[in-house]
Amino acid sequence: MSRAAFQLIVVFVAFSAAIYLLMLIGPEEPAVSTGEKDITIPRAPAEAKRVTNPFPVSDEVILDGERIYQSKGTCFTCHGTSGRGDGPAGLELNPRPRNFTNPRFHELRTDGELFWVIRNGSPGSRMFSYSPSVITEEEAWKVIHYLRTLPTRSPAPTG
Ligand code: HEC
Repeated sequence: MSRAAFQLIVVFVAFSAAIYLLMLIGPEEPAVSTGEKDITIPRAPAEAKRVTNPFPVSDEVILDGERIYQSKGTCFTCHGTSGRGDGPAGLELNPRPRNFTNPRFHELRTDGELFWVIRNGSPGSRMFSYSPSVITEEEAWKVIHYLRTLPTRSPAPTG
């Protein structure tokens, strides 16, 4: 075997070993997602349930909420532009981002509970606190009105 060929093999083996080691230490999240957490388990403490949305719903408020969700709030990156929980940054998360197109989810949660999660995050997940750091409390309430419209906007699952 020529010296050049031997060196090539050494480099290849070292490279493969490095890749293998990298695979052993990472990634933090499993490559295969186990899906969304059970929606019947509340994420917010019981007292959050009673807190009501200070904004009456209107087309204008929903439109504001949509703009915040799809830009400043960065919600779409994980929850997906249509709200199915299939945003590029959410695909590998465990638990997966919530699918807001599921009507059952909306039946189970009050606005106050959604607001609590946007304020405090959902412990044990990559849903961190987004208000007041990223969006104001006012914007959070508007986003919630928008989230409520998602089941009727995007009822079909993605292919
Ligand atoms: C980095 C990814 C990421 C981003 C960005 C993100 N979320 Fe989430 N979100 C998640 C994950 C993951 C969950 C699931 C948490 C769980 O199951 O406990 C979640 C859950 C939620 C829930 C549901 C909690 C419940 O009661 O089950 C709400 C509401 C929510 N997010 C709102 C938002 C809003 C509004 C934004 C934008 C301001 C946003 N999220 C941005 C990852 C994200």
